[in-house]
Amino acid sequence: MRYYLQILKRYKFSLIISPLLVLIGVVCETMQPGFMAKIVDEGVMKRDISMVTETGVYMILISVLGLVAAVINIYLSSTISVGFGMDLRKKLFDKIQNLSFSDIDRFGTASLITRLTNDITQIQHLVMMSMRILLRSPLLLLLALVWIIRINSELALILTASIPILVITIYIIFKKGYPFFLKVQRKIDALNGMVRENLINIRVVKSFVREDFATERFVEKSEDLKNTGIQAGNIIVIAFPVMQLVVNMSIIAILWFGGGMVISGDLKVGELISFVNYLFQILMSLMMMSMIIMNFARAAASSERITEVLDLEPSLADMSATLSSEHEITKGEVEYRNVSFRYANGENNVLNDISFKVKAGETIAVVGATGAAKSSMLQLLPRLYDVSEGMILIDGVNIKQYKLDELHRKIGIVLQNDELFTGTIIENLRWGATDASVEEIYNATRTAQAHDFIMSFSDGYNTRLGRGGVNISGGQKQRLCIARALLKKPKILILDDSTSAVDSDTEQKIRQNLGKMLGETTVFVITQRVNTMQTANRVIVLDDGKIEIIGSPYELLEKSPTYREIYNSQQMFPQ
Ligand SMILES: Nc1ncnc2c1ncn2[C@@H]1O[C@H](COP(=O)(O)OP(=O)(O)OP(=O)(O)O)[C@@H](O)[C@H]1O
Ligand SMILES: [Mg+2]
Repeated sequence: MRYYLQILKRYKFSLIISPLLVLIGVVCETMQPGFMAKIVDEGVMKRDISMVTETGVYMILISVLGLVAAVINIYLSSTISVGFGMDLRKKLFDKIQNLSFSDIDRFGTASLITRLTNDITQIQHLVMMSMRILLRSPLLLLLALVWIIRINSELALILTASIPILVITIYIIFKKGYPFFLKVQRKIDALNGMVRENLINIRVVKSFVREDFATERFVEKSEDLKNTGIQAGNIIVIAFPVMQLVVNMSIIAILWFGGGMVISGDLKVGELISFVNYLFQILMSLMMMSMIIMNFARAAASSERITEVLDLEPSLADMSATLSSEHEITKGEVEYRNVSFRYANGENNVLNDISFKVKAGETIAVVGATGAAKSSMLQLLPRLYDVSEGMILIDGVNIKQYKLDELHRKIGIVLQNDELFTGTIIENLRWGATDASVEEIYNATRTAQAHDFIMSFSDGYNTRLGRGGVNISGGQKQRLCIARALLKKPKILILDDSTSAVDSDTEQKIRQNLGKMLGETTVFVITQRVNTMQTANRVIVLDDGKIEIIGSPYELLEKSPTYREIYNSQQMFPQ
């Protein structure tokens, strides 16, 4: 709630005006039946045509006034709700940008997208509805009642029987319906999540020929949603006619008793007509009330999901101690000191007691079986995840003492499944270094063996990449990602299997170029290729989250059976 109030504060002025407009609208609306009574009783019955015209003109003026108030209020409510939606979306987006990998793992990408879109739209819709009818329906009810009592309090007594029934009906809708509406919202969520995941991974689905399976899952979730929707709908289906019935019965009763009063001269015909009109207004206000209750239920579910994200303390927030931190990474020395790590959603440590020291400018190859936690180990360095135990130092300072910005500026990382963004090649390359000169860009792409293939495209560096770089090959994508990381001129460079899709000739060239370009840079390279391992200064062999051995390639050939095995296997089938 506090987030919403913060945002709504910006629209203070309109939010004060809006209830006034609603009040004007309702007053105008409830005056109309009164005028009607006057026309009938004093104009028509007394055959006074000038009275009819005069009152008619008043009626028109009043309804125009009501209309103007309504139009302004609709305009206000639309602009405010859209603005509110935008502000909230921005707030949420900012927050998501600051989440760590482990926070994002916890929510899931699809769910975050749903929260940013669908859930915010629900709340936005509620803001609009609230401004239009939250106040309007009780006001209308109240004023209509006041008028009814003023016309004839005896007749109004009949309503003491029907109004409690109506209120109870609304209460039942609320009580019974609310959990169902919440449930519907959750089901919509599940469906959304499934569809998004399916679309994001559509290539996998297609390549495994699992379309049928995907469709089946979709139908299942859809059916589930439909059934819950029907249950929720049933409550309304029953409630609306009940309300209508009660009001209609009241109208009949009013006509019955009121008719008697008219005949005996205690009530005027026009008054009876306006009485019935007020009853319709009461019915309408009740219908509106139940509608807004439904919307509240839906928005409550969405709101919960939005505040859940907004409330989260990002696990990697720049600690207040680091906010004024002036530490800079100047050399690129790295030390892992008794580091253990477990994923927030995992049961066991994936890394155990990792310790090693790396001098500035060294190239370290990290090898090990798949799942040995090579990627996990190096993702700790730029704090994509935080260590669970122990500490990591760069240039002798705990990485938690650096500003995140500083860490991310000085550490270049090419992730195992790195992605490019929709846009031109050059925009992608400038992603981490907005002010890179053309010279520097060419230098980076040449080093990454990307320049030639970029130039072979007819648009060269202005070639547009589809979402995630779908229109280039896997190896081309990897080389662009390397070039992008090089442009940051990092002090520490992490290459996570970044040349796995590149042929070994090209890879060798990249390696040689990197050696020349990155004299001072500390390089970690996760690799499966012996050639790369052999040219490293030292190699870390990881086995199941522990360091089996660390040493120069030649040392390892002697001492490590695992390393020897990898070496021999690739000597027999040289790449
Ligand atoms: N985001 C995550 N959440 C939970 N567990 C994870 C996550 N990422 C990896 N793991 C687990 O951590 C372990 C190590 O994974 P990691 O990706 O570090 O291995 P790797 O050595 O890089 O393997 P590969 O050579 O296949 O890339 C695996 O058992 C994996 O299941
Ligand atoms: Mg990996």
